[in-house]
Amino acid sequence: MKKTGLNEIRKEFLDFFKEKEHLVVPSFSLLPKNDKSLLLINAGMAPLKPYFTGAQEPPNRRMATCQKCVRTGDIENVGKTARHATFFEMLGNFSFGDYFKREAIEWAWEFMTERMGISEKELWVSVYEEDDEAYDIWNKHIGISHDKIVRLGKEDNFWELEVGPCGPCSEIYVDRGEKYGCGSESCKPGCDCDRYVEVWNLVFSQFDKDEKGNYNPVPHPNIDTGMGLERIAAVMQNADSIFDTDVIGRLLKKVEEKSGITYGENEKKDMSIRVVTDHIRAVTFLVADGVLPSNEGRGYVLRRLIRRASRHGKLLGIENDFLNTLALTVSELWGEAYPEIIERLSQIQKVIKVEEDKFQETIDQGITILNEYIQKIIEEKGNILSGEIAFKLYDTYGFPLDLTKEILEENNLRVDEIAFNNEMEKQRERARKAREEGDNQAWSKDSTLEIDSTLKTEFVGYTNIDFKGNIIGVLKDGIQVEQLDLNEKGIVLLDKTPFYPEGGGQVGDTGFLRGKNFVLRINDTQKNSHEQILHFAEVIEGTVVAGAEVCAEVDKNLRLSTARNHSVTHLLHKALREVLGEHVNQAGSLVMSDRLRFDFTHFEAVKKEELDRIEEIVNDKIFEGLEIEAIETTLEDARKQGAAALFDEKYGDVVRLIKIGDYSKELCGGTHVSNSSQIGMFKIISESGIASGVRRIEAITGKKAYEYLVDMDTQISKMADILKTNKRDIVIRVQQVTEETRHLEKEVEKMKSDLAISKLDDIIKESVDINGVSVVYKRIDGMDMNSLRQLGDRIRDSMNSVVVVFASVADEKVSFVSMATKDLVNKGIHAGNIIKEVAKIAGGGGGGRPDMAQAGGKDPSKVDEALSIVKDIIISQIK
Ligand code: ALA
Repeated sequence: MKKTGLNEIRKEFLDFFKEKEHLVVPSFSLLPKNDKSLLLINAGMAPLKPYFTGAQEPPNRRMATCQKCVRTGDIENVGKTARHATFFEMLGNFSFGDYFKREAIEWAWEFMTERMGISEKELWVSVYEEDDEAYDIWNKHIGISHDKIVRLGKEDNFWELEVGPCGPCSEIYVDRGEKYGCGSESCKPGCDCDRYVEVWNLVFSQFDKDEKGNYNPVPHPNIDTGMGLERIAAVMQNADSIFDTDVIGRLLKKVEEKSGITYGENEKKDMSIRVVTDHIRAVTFLVADGVLPSNEGRGYVLRRLIRRASRHGKLLGIENDFLNTLALTVSELWGEAYPEIIERLSQIQKVIKVEEDKFQETIDQGITILNEYIQKIIEEKGNILSGEIAFKLYDTYGFPLDLTKEILEENNLRVDEIAFNNEMEKQRERARKAREEGDNQAWSKDSTLEIDSTLKTEFVGYTNIDFKGNIIGVLKDGIQVEQLDLNEKGIVLLDKTPFYPEGGGQVGDTGFLRGKNFVLRINDTQKNSHEQILHFAEVIEGTVVAGAEVCAEVDKNLRLSTARNHSVTHLLHKALREVLGEHVNQAGSLVMSDRLRFDFTHFEAVKKEELDRIEEIVNDKIFEGLEIEAIETTLEDARKQGAAALFDEKYGDVVRLIKIGDYSKELCGGTHVSNSSQIGMFKIISESGIASGVRRIEAITGKKAYEYLVDMDTQISKMADILKTNKRDIVIRVQQVTEETRHLEKEVEKMKSDLAISKLDDIIKESVDINGVSVVYKRIDGMDMNSLRQLGDRIRDSMNSVVVVFASVADEKVSFVSMATKDLVNKGIHAGNIIKEVAKIAGGGGGGRPDMAQAGGKDPSKVDEALSIVKDIIISQIK
């Protein structure tokens, strides 16, 4: 059998089918597109479903791929044996109504025997029990003897997912020899042991299974095949498992290096090594495709994988933050085939690191607590952990249930999952109640509980800002009343209103309700849990009676400014994704009339150049004058159009899609301008972090942006006046002024030192006598080493017998100089040693000859202290 590497087999396979006129395309993303039935792509055929069902025309009737796949059915078992993996690559060739069974079988056989060079003796096949056609092709056409074709039932040889394209299949097995077998007489493909490895599944895909479980025939029969790349590599390399193959083996080696533990010596450690090796691949690829850790859906799969890998890393004794460095290894090993993991590496590493760190914080605490409980259960000879405790670990310490389960299992214990789920349900209930109470609290000033819930308001504000309506309800202090008098405050309901109630991050409208003999000022508009629109009103003229007709007038300017800010958040969202990447998702927003705030997921501060670019793109889109339309459609259709939607928002069947030209599509219930040019101008005011992985941009538009620029301009004009220049030259002028200041500072220092020198006589007068030695020691700031030396020389020249020690701080730099006349050197004075000790105190070093030495220092605040020891040093030197 010839040895073949993972990368070589991938290439060989794709080349082979290219020769057979297949269109070879790169792997699709792990994230299914427009497919609610799947969390993650788990088979080569999954992204191609519309071609199988005939919903879409394929670019070619024959295609082949090597598809990234993630299967998460049994994460807990991954690592326990060497058989399971979450991430794997699936080789597949597909026919959409083109060739069928005969070619599929023929080519699979040709590839296995001729390209892979596997001997016919080692190959076995299975067919669906009723599929005589496939049986005959294998037997008569290919020439496989009866005893090596196994007929198996639906469980083994009918391939299907929950829903979608499916059909009977035929599988190719490789006999790995007796040493892998169970020894049973009847051992053959289908047996549970490791002898016959199923490597390639040929699905004769003829049905489209619907949600009710009906098998609907598709317009034409298709071929869908799948061969696990890692598995065929293991066979080709005669490796015991996929973990012993070439490329994965290299990743596993890295885990060994990091942990200092050798694979194959201890079953428990082996499991951990496999967990880390497997999970880091899945994690790297998932993040590359835009998944971020969260508590739901794909994000939760990712979170579980990171946390499980992190914990097993810990079991291997690896210190913090190792997964993100392993992601680098994954990108080195697989990057050639999947360039996205190289391109997005820094992002991938950041996401992993943030999650690893977050987990680290909670896990230690959780594990300690869990271990205490485990001890207690064992002591009490029990075998089950209560659901309440497991829930507390989950709720308070962020400790995932599956981790609890796994740790318990390691101790032969289990958790009461039913009780855990009960707690979870109770928690949900509490949260729901809290939300409701929260809602009510917001109205406690003016509770609306009293309002008849059958009263309905129609919102007409998307197309109108003033509208005639009738007052259908009036509330004062939370109680339904018949009238409101002058200066009284209350809540008013209309049958129809153009007032937008706060929602989707956009503030509520303000304005006036004008009736025949009264006027109400509306300070805010809100919506309650019955979807009733509440106008928070104050009577500023006359008396208001229920039932009266009003003209509802929204404050036009505020509404328009708010609409500008809302439309621009859509442009901003899109531009952020364009510049920073697809990981950017809206995390919150506040749209007011005078400014906007947009929170989004991103893991580092947005760089200046990036911000500039984002601002420029948004402004370009404004200047392009893009038409803004609101379209009512189905969620399905909006998704198909690729509209951005918040994950945690629940949309009804009919959704409102806001389109800004062809640039942005977002589901949104807010009010918008009708053309991007109305936004006028967009200016970012600040960018900051508000939580780990969440950034905030604050910005302004329209008149506010204009006013901001005018204000800045005024400031610059004032500066220019002060600096006696014009605005254009202001930067040059500021540079000049700074330069001048620096120059002047130098000059001042020089003058100080000149002055010191001129005071030579004064300095000499300050000399002291220490045990018969004349000593001049002094701090003279503003002098550099050179000037100090000159000054010292002069003193030495004018006094016949003297020791000089000078210190100076200039420009934060500390200098020391010491000198001694020959006669004193003969008496034992050593300038070099003096300076050594003195400078040491100020954090410096240096030294020199007995008659002349100099040194620097680091700490200007210690200079006086340094000089204060001179006396003692001299005394000790003359002794
Ligand atoms: N879709 C088939 C499988 O995943 C080929 O096994």
